[in-house]
Amino acid sequence: MTHQHFLDLSDAGANAVAAMIGDAIDRKAARKGWGKGQADADAPLAGKVLALVFEKNSTRTRVSFDIAMRQLGGSVLILDSASSQLGRGETIADTARVLSKMVDAIMLRTDDHAKIEEMARHATVPVINGLTDRSHPCQIVADLLTVIEHGKALPGLEVAWFGDGNNVLHSILEAASLMKFNVRVATPSGYEPDSEFVEMARAGGAEVTLIQDASVAARGADVLVTDTWISMGQADADEKRRAMEPLQVNASLIAEAKPDALFLHCLPAHVGEEVSEEVFEGPQSVVFDEAENRIHAQKSVLLWSFGLLA
Ligand code: CP
Ligand code: NVA
Repeated sequence: MTHQHFLDLSDAGANAVAAMIGDAIDRKAARKGWGKGQADADAPLAGKVLALVFEKNSTRTRVSFDIAMRQLGGSVLILDSASSQLGRGETIADTARVLSKMVDAIMLRTDDHAKIEEMARHATVPVINGLTDRSHPCQIVADLLTVIEHGKALPGLEVAWFGDGNNVLHSILEAASLMKFNVRVATPSGYEPDSEFVEMARAGGAEVTLIQDASVAARGADVLVTDTWISMGQADADEKRRAMEPLQVNASLIAEAKPDALFLHCLPAHVGEEVSEEVFEGPQSVVFDEAENRIHAQKSVLLWSFGLLA
């Protein structure tokens, strides 16, 4: 079986990301009404074990990879840095080599992206990015799936982002470059995304607008997205919160978007901060479908990493 690392969406490329979404739609439809832990009919990863390694907290990533592996016929084990030797300074390189002897794939959630690159360099099994400070590609496969399921085509889609220029936004910009949609980015000055991702999106043909006025970003948008103002590992500063306040996704902001615009949030949400309760609980919010789709997206990512998808 081949192995391919999935550190970012570009590792897969546009055709593979499209294949992931297509396979997720098909597998999800084929198992409608089944028990959540029941394996898909073909159980393509029977006998395979995935290690989930966490250096940061997680609910969705942890549960969705576990359920995804069960549905593909395989199993998982979970390693937290606090309770493993990683937490006592064992190197990433040695951890990668040991895990490669014991399991068939590794998912890592960590802080510095260089750590996952190091893991990938030393592992002889697929390494999957379950979030770093730089990017969150698995989340975006689920987000694209959710948008498509809710009847929107990706090419030409107008996506508007509000808040911090963070890891999730970076992966949205990477997806824009591959799947040819446009992104209006509304952040306070000083909180813009890394220019590398803006340039990548533009080089791929996506229109990217960097603005500070939330209502300009929302006008005519198909999808509105936000995320926590303070990501894991970031300092919780009053100054940052004050700068973010004008970018809350609320009823007056969503009214500027297309009437059928969708609201996305990777979760966990801080209702009353980056999103108002009215929007979070409102009819345009698809955040819990988005969370469920982490399972279906993760299955596609795993199959691609094992060389079982285009
Ligand atoms: N969206 C997301 O990655 O959630 P968790 O931090 O709970 O895994
Ligand atoms: N930007 C957030 C995403 C959490 C899923 C963080 O990194 O904490």
